Amino acid sequence: MTENENITTLLKEKRLFKPSALFQKTAYLPSFSALQTLRKKILKKPELFWAAEARKLKWIKPFKKVLVWNPPFAQWFPDGKINISENCLDRHLITARKNKAAILWEGEPGDTRTLTYQELHREVCRFANVLKNIGIVKGDRVSIYLPMIPELPIAMLACARIGATHSVIFGGFSAEALKERNVDAQAKLLITADGGYRKGQAIPLKANADIALAGSPSVEKVVVVRRTGAPVAMLSGRDFWWHELMRSASSVCPPEPLDSEHPLFILYTSGSTGKPKGALHTTAGYLTQAAWTTRMIFDLKEEDTYWCTADIGWVTGHTYIVYGPLSNGATVVMYEGAPLHPQPDRCWEIIEKYRINVFYTAPTAIRTFIKFGEEWPKKHDLSSLRLLGTVGEPINPQAWLWYHQVIGKSKCPIVDTWWQTETGAIMISPLPGATPLKPGSATAPLPGIQADVVDKTGKPVPPDQGGYLVIQKPWPAMLRTIYGDPERFKKQYWSQIPGAYFTGDGARKDKDGYFWIMGRIDDVIKVSGHRLGTAEIESALVSYPQVAEAAVVGRPDEVTGEGIVAFVTLQGRTQPDPILREKLIEHVAKVIGAVAKPSEIRFTDALPKTRSGKIMRRLLRELATSGQVKGDVTTLEDFSVLTKLQAAEEEE
Ligand code: WTA
Repeated sequence: MTENENITTLLKEKRLFKPSALFQKTAYLPSFSALQTLRKKILKKPELFWAAEARKLKWIKPFKKVLVWNPPFAQWFPDGKINISENCLDRHLITARKNKAAILWEGEPGDTRTLTYQELHREVCRFANVLKNIGIVKGDRVSIYLPMIPELPIAMLACARIGATHSVIFGGFSAEALKERNVDAQAKLLITADGGYRKGQAIPLKANADIALAGSPSVEKVVVVRRTGAPVAMLSGRDFWWHELMRSASSVCPPEPLDSEHPLFILYTSGSTGKPKGALHTTAGYLTQAAWTTRMIFDLKEEDTYWCTADIGWVTGHTYIVYGPLSNGATVVMYEGAPLHPQPDRCWEIIEKYRINVFYTAPTAIRTFIKFGEEWPKKHDLSSLRLLGTVGEPINPQAWLWYHQVIGKSKCPIVDTWWQTETGAIMISPLPGATPLKPGSATAPLPGIQADVVDKTGKPVPPDQGGYLVIQKPWPAMLRTIYGDPERFKKQYWSQIPGAYFTGDGARKDKDGYFWIMGRIDDVIKVSGHRLGTAEIESALVSYPQVAEAAVVGRPDEVTGEGIVAFVTLQGRTQPDPILREKLIEHVAKVIGAVAKPSEIRFTDALPKTRSGKIMRRLLRELATSGQVKGDVTTLEDFSVLTKLQAAEEEE
């Protein structure tokens, strides 16, 4: 590999934030040396470390075998039997957690519900009996298309209790997306609701589901939760009301003994090609890593109130709202609606109201909060916060510092957690009492995880050189396959870099061994032979005071191979003008280097995003290249953003 084929990385961040003595005083892992000792101890045999963690769970039949590895297929603790819902619920009922709040739920209109562990257990057992009564058996697939209401985790845990495999489809997805997922999973049952609240409106979920159901022949029955009270069509013999089925359901339902490798859930994720991939996750290994990472990374204590703002329709919600926190007996806040509704301080209001201690959100949300200004968080008492987290994309140092100072009052460590739908749980992250933080870096692989940055041949690249982020040993929460397509699983993840799982991300390691994620490899731009991570250029743009958000894409260029086009949104009332444009280009040149200078900057009111907040660079790339968008836009959250961008294109 010649040097030019490596990813050129130019962004350097030198600030270092050490955990405070106050935080360390109560942290599970209270010092850097404690972390180093742990790392050293488990380096050679990480599977024994995971086995020790697995033994802390409640087993129906203890395992003897730890790992069977037939690359790329792994089995963890394969001869054991376990039930996840028992671990998340029953286990706590014989302790003081019995009457502790498991879920503090807040609806978008302001209605609330609290479920203690005992109450949640009862609801889960009753719904598990409902599932059995309508003919669902172990191994069946169940699609769940619900808003963020307590019935969503109840349905998931009820499936887990009887051994049905759930496939949660984000409530913001279209009928088409739901149909595709019903068909791929051959789901026998669909659980949905009359609707859900989002930005003050009732979203008609059942109406969408009905369109999907017309093309989902495997779905025999539908259970409908009453949430908004909107009138819905109920097809006799197929559709049933949740509350009616629950009325007569018994609350006694022993947990089904399940193999460690029993399929717990399928979660669909988009790849670089159009067809969604169903990442298949299984039981015991997944729970082991979910439970350990939740406890250690969020340093979760018995008395903490914890809030992860993700939607359960994404993997973050699966692992860090449901399975991780509940298996630890934590109190979880769950919020139904939009973060800016009815005002931009809804999140800060919730933090104040519930006295939240640990807050986990996405960089895109943080940048949106920055855009609305400090006056919103300043209206609220955020002093209960002791730890902050981010997930989902690289966080630019500027946003990191804002989060640290304005929200965390410079006293809360920030855990920047790198992972994927496919990895099932966090893989690269600080441990908050131990790891000195560098803004913008997810720091280092967790103890027990072997990850590195390599070239195409699998050889580690030298410090500060970009390369491919890979994982070199199987880990407990890894996806086991792509549902129904083991060949695609092999090809997609295990054949691009010899002997390793390829994440699809570019990254670099600095001389201290810190990992800097540069974004998806397919978002990488090659200018004059240099590959540049979009995240770095975006981060440079966003560090300019008037810039709120930026997305950068490559466009074919005769001279340089690819040219950089930057789409930029501005703070508050700043008006775009040619001088600002020039200043921004110079700023990027200053921060990263002349090679990264955008050849064009387009100002826009908003960027096209998926419903989970990821910028859809693919659409911007098409727009920058051909002036229009013809590709798949089903995952786009707000279509008007695209219309406006296209109109602006025609004007220019
Ligand atoms: C990106 C979300 C930088 C990355 C849990 C990954 C991140 C993809 C981070 C997976 C982070 C996630 N820093 N990039 N802390 N966390 N990513 O499947 O590109 O929705 O491959 O899982 O998000 O997205 P997914």
